[in-house]
Amino acid sequence: MTDAPTKQKLWGGRFTGKTDPLMHEFNQSLKYDKRMYDADIRGSIAYSKALALIGILTKDEEAQIVNGLEAVGKEWDDGVFQAQPDDEDIHTANERRLTELIGPLGGKLHTGRSRNDQVATDMRLWLMKEVREIEAALKALIQVIVNRADKERDILMPGYTHLQRAQPVRWSHLILSYAFYFAADLQRLRELVPRISVLPLGSGALAGNAFVVDREFLAKELGFDSVSENSFHGVGDRDFVAEFMMWASLMMTHLSRVSEDLIVYSTAEFGFVTLSDAYSTGSSMMPQKKNPDSLELLRGKSGRIFGNLSGFMMTYKGIPSTYNKDLQEDKEPLFDTVDNAWASLRIAEGVIATVEVHGDKMREALTMDMLATDLADYLVRKGIPFRETHHISGRAVALAESRKCHLHELSLEDYKGLSDQFTEDVHGVFDFEASVEKRRAIGGPALVMIDRQIETLQAILNQ
Ligand code: ARG
Repeated sequence: MTDAPTKQKLWGGRFTGKTDPLMHEFNQSLKYDKRMYDADIRGSIAYSKALALIGILTKDEEAQIVNGLEAVGKEWDDGVFQAQPDDEDIHTANERRLTELIGPLGGKLHTGRSRNDQVATDMRLWLMKEVREIEAALKALIQVIVNRADKERDILMPGYTHLQRAQPVRWSHLILSYAFYFAADLQRLRELVPRISVLPLGSGALAGNAFVVDREFLAKELGFDSVSENSFHGVGDRDFVAEFMMWASLMMTHLSRVSEDLIVYSTAEFGFVTLSDAYSTGSSMMPQKKNPDSLELLRGKSGRIFGNLSGFMMTYKGIPSTYNKDLQEDKEPLFDTVDNAWASLRIAEGVIATVEVHGDKMREALTMDMLATDLADYLVRKGIPFRETHHISGRAVALAESRKCHLHELSLEDYKGLSDQFTEDVHGVFDFEASVEKRRAIGGPALVMIDRQIETLQAILNQ
């Protein structure tokens, strides 16, 4: 722990006593909020331009401040910015350095502004940029799934409910279902943007800006869609932080469920897929093992990201109106969520791009009893009510079971014994491919519907 610095703090005017060293460290956010340095510099450049427009700064002063801010930004870019013990957060650090570079003129920049409207602005600016990166990663993941589904449409596999074999489907149908979860995430993410893109700058500490700074100008300069309409709300609102973390929690829930599928399918018991070496690890003790760590981490990270959300919500719910320092606790969970959501999407993309699919094993797992519904449907087409055909088909399954044979091995006589509507063509039912192709209503696994799903997803990607 370093001693609390003795030099005057930015807000030191009314203080006579020294800050407790632990309190100094407790309060300091620079160690993590420095990653918003670029947003902070951009916000200040726009603000100095706005101050010049209302005559608080001359054109020449504006130019000096802008140049100074750019120099500070370059120090951060080059990794040579020297933080001082007294730099409480990124805002004080940048202003302190600006004043060192250009002299007392730097002290004019903060006219009418507070760190309260500044930090809310910085976070929104920062998040707007990160959301674009996350959107790109999400689109890449969806694209990889769509490409595989297109190429591997001939692979058939059992579809499961309750993890019990149910009906034959295409492998493409399974992975396209993942893509639809992620496509909904993509749409939800796009819908968040207008609510993140609201400018708080010009709200002052809480009660507005007495110099009547042109906030529409600021919004345009910084690329915000709109301007916050109430200064209390402007400085106190962190719904965009909560909402982004809600979004991330749901997206991670989807990644977790996909991971769970692939972990199960990669076991020797299923043997449907093999994870590439690039996304697996070995055991320190058992030489034969190849573990799906990437997928387990994705599943695990989903808990962590939901934890970030719930932790922040606990902080957020008790805060009185406007700004309170509790709000500084929004940053670490948000940053952690952004980092881990982005990394998770990239890892998932890599896993899905490289996972090896064993079509032969999937095929072997298809059993004739999975066509019992098709057998019932066969009789429905001959005019018997489904409730009866379901029963008849069930008796066929029981008969095959008692004979220790498969449905297709029962003779026509056996079938006729169950219903006189069975004819020669009953054996046409026992064809997995034909069964899948019958299900060509919208949303089904037939080839035409695989095409349609791919087209729909491609359209969402191209929006
Ligand atoms: N570091 C602070 C935060 O992240 C900035 C705002 C501080 N404002 C204040 N009045 N102390 O929330």
